[in-house]
Amino acid sequence: MKTENRGNFSSKIGVILATVGTAVGLGNVWRFPYIVGENGGGAFLVIYILSLLLLGIPGVIAEFIVGRHSHANAVDSFKKLAPKTKWHWIGYSGVLAGFLIMGYYAVVVGWTLEYLTQAILGNLSGMSVEQYGQVFDQFAGHPYWPLVWMVIVMLISTFVVARGVSGGIEKISNVLMPVFFLIILVMVANSFFLPAAGQGMKYLFLPNFSELEPVAILIAIGQTFFSLSLGMGCLITYSSYFKKDVSLAKTATQVVSIDAMVAILSAMIIFPAVFSFGMQPTEGPSLVFKVLPNVFQQMPLGTLWSILFYALLFIAAITSLISLLEVVTAYIYENTSLTRRKAAFIVTGMVSVLGVFASMSFGLLQDVTLFGKTFFDLLDFVTASILLPVGGFFISIFVGWFLDKRIIATELRIKHPKAHLFIKGYIYMLRFFVPACIFAVFLYSLLG
Ligand code: PFF
Repeated sequence: MKTENRGNFSSKIGVILATVGTAVGLGNVWRFPYIVGENGGGAFLVIYILSLLLLGIPGVIAEFIVGRHSHANAVDSFKKLAPKTKWHWIGYSGVLAGFLIMGYYAVVVGWTLEYLTQAILGNLSGMSVEQYGQVFDQFAGHPYWPLVWMVIVMLISTFVVARGVSGGIEKISNVLMPVFFLIILVMVANSFFLPAAGQGMKYLFLPNFSELEPVAILIAIGQTFFSLSLGMGCLITYSSYFKKDVSLAKTATQVVSIDAMVAILSAMIIFPAVFSFGMQPTEGPSLVFKVLPNVFQQMPLGTLWSILFYALLFIAAITSLISLLEVVTAYIYENTSLTRRKAAFIVTGMVSVLGVFASMSFGLLQDVTLFGKTFFDLLDFVTASILLPVGGFFISIFVGWFLDKRIIATELRIKHPKAHLFIKGYIYMLRFFVPACIFAVFLYSLLG
């Protein structure tokens, strides 16, 4: 096991931006708005925020404790903290999840780059609603263009990961995340001037609990995991690069708050726009690729808004893809004699093979299904609905029941006269509440 020269995030702002970089991704800008749209708006938002507070923050802190205390990747962290046990299988499941998520995530990141390019070339305007739908279907089902983009985004990620923690991941996050926040604020400001701004905001912020179905609670919990990159050791890997003076509870709270804020801001961009041009937010996963280009073309300065929006989506997505690549690369790099660069290249090669099949789910292989799902959907289901919740369940049990309480106290370092009560309460949450909720999601995913 290579342990020397693992690298660190060099500054506290670097820690926040890199961790926000993994959390904020397609989950916030693409998945969250359409899930809110499908689940009745404001009431769903309330449930989601409760889930972030009650499961998200404790879960993020648990991964931070494991990562920072062990200073190791997703697998070796458990080997160090619980030698000669089987706990490190949680890590293997995480590395596998990272690999499988990349297989379809990279395809979608590729789509965002295609849409960004087309927006810049001015090709995303002047079509009818149906034509936008056809353009997406034709592109996504094309035998090689989506693959070319997928390989490009994987190579960009490889380049960053190969440069290491502070020279690659931290540096790119420090540049891209501020650009991301600038774009999102400009776009939200524009939203307020749209004709149906009020209707959009009401839909998002005015809860109507009579429209909420019980299953929405479970969907909200699943979204919490995906959006916070929880349950697969990604946050273990990132926090293994935190220095001792980083406050874990504070960082977790900040990252979860920013992640929630970005999801809400993305919905604040999308709903007013969709309502203003007579569309519905219940369109599902294709909302941002089929519906939004048509919405943008009807706005004044439409080309500018579509360039900004797809740039936003691309930045969110590429920083998360980098973190997925880092989880698998760190494990391979630290357990072989390979360099970081070679390890990242090998992972990229393997992911590209997986991506070919995921991408072909929209073309040649669209009729080939397993358990009623295409290969693309299967990757999403196996990871988001099974591997992440199961990983989160066991990490919570590991920290709550197995890990020495003194390690938890040392890592949390809360300076408060009642610190022991806080820690006790936290451990109770990890022991009972968090696993019980995850168990419910898991059962639903399998039975639903
Ligand atoms: N959190 C990312 C998003 O919201 O798009 C997705 C993700 C990244 C999940 C990294 C898991 C992970 F390890």
